[in-house]
Amino acid sequence: MVISEINYINFRNLLDFSLNFSPKINLLYGKNGQGKTNLLEALYFVGTGKSFKTKKAIETIKYGKTKCGAFATYKDSISEKKIIVKLLDGKKEFSYNGKKTSYDEFYGKLNIVSYIPEDVAIINNSPNIRRDFFDGEIAQSDPDFFQCVKKFNHLLKIRNKYLKDKTYRNDEFQIYQAEFIKYGAKIMKTRLDYVKVLSSLLSLNYRKLFDNTKELELIYNCSLGSIKKKSLNEIETLFKDSMNKNFYQEIKLGFSLAGPQKDDFLFFLNNYDAKGNASQGEKKSIIFSLKMAEIDMILRNKKEIPVLIIDDITSYFDNSRLYRLLEYLEKRNIQIFMSSIEKLKISSSNFYVENGEITYE
Ligand SMILES: Nc1ncnc2c1ncn2[C@@H]1O[C@H](COP(=O)(O)OP(=O)(O)OP(=O)(O)O)[C@@H](O)[C@H]1O
Ligand SMILES: [Mg+2]
Repeated sequence: MVISEINYINFRNLLDFSLNFSPKINLLYGKNGQGKTNLLEALYFVGTGKSFKTKKAIETIKYGKTKCGAFATYKDSISEKKIIVKLLDGKKEFSYNGKKTSYDEFYGKLNIVSYIPEDVAIINNSPNIRRDFFDGEIAQSDPDFFQCVKKFNHLLKIRNKYLKDKTYRNDEFQIYQAEFIKYGAKIMKTRLDYVKVLSSLLSLNYRKLFDNTKELELIYNCSLGSIKKKSLNEIETLFKDSMNKNFYQEIKLGFSLAGPQKDDFLFFLNNYDAKGNASQGEKKSIIFSLKMAEIDMILRNKKEIPVLIIDDITSYFDNSRLYRLLEYLEKRNIQIFMSSIEKLKISSSNFYVENGEITYE
């Protein structure tokens, strides 16, 4: 996929502008605090409807203004598309090829993989960050999964309310229970299958780009125990059994004890949990390899190459690692937007960023 043009209005400190991009490497360079990350965020915002910096979308609106918006033209392997994301009165509006759409329909149309300094949180932070991240990545190429997660989260709320209010003898509870198992098992099976493929791609990328002496593995740590090699039916049965076993405890506590809302994803480097053992540089390398594996995954599942965003490219690695990576990225047939405080010795289209103004050189 290639973004050829972006327009934005009232987006952070950026001066309202329209920009055209190269289908290869686009480098945004300039001093600290000028708007490089903001432009990458605007690209991510128009592509995914979200920010990679904040959950409070309202923060993306320029100080003193009440609304913001971005418009982009991109091409996938089939044709040219136009997308718009607007934020007004605290609400987002999405439009795809001139028609208003829901977020569910909008998400995943343009595929973007981003690598930002905050991404080490995927390894370091709590399991819900990893669940959100991996679920979002799966949904990039599987829109049904997005619906499945939404439905499950809704059922989880209902089920917990029944448990808390002790109204589980109600007939309706059994209906919700059956749905809860169905959607929960579907999520677990989808995550399991996804991680199986992703883990091998991750390991290959890590070996190729960083260290071919170390083995990197991603493990789906399911709250039901080992579900490796289990079919969807078998996972449903296991889930049901575990709920029967936990039921009295659940009534006592007033919430559900097993299910996809309790699962985790763990990175193991040479058989040690990366969270507590890997170095800072290794963690950054793991995440970079993960992002490269995400690209492979989208290519595999959708036959499309996503757009890659890399913020602060020079801040992660030592010079030899950095230039090895840049050389690798230059060779890949992929559109990249990256920011740096200075120009880099690579072939790229360069954009100078100063005070929210972007100048093509
Ligand atoms: N909603 C907003 N409205 C106006 N300005 C904002 C808003 N949010 C952030 N800014 C400002 O935008 C400026 C540029 O931020 P940005 O993160 O893009 O800088 P940068 O060029 O990436 O710098 P660095 O090299 O330090 O990462 C900052 O000074 C910040 O205070
Ligand atoms: Mg920045």
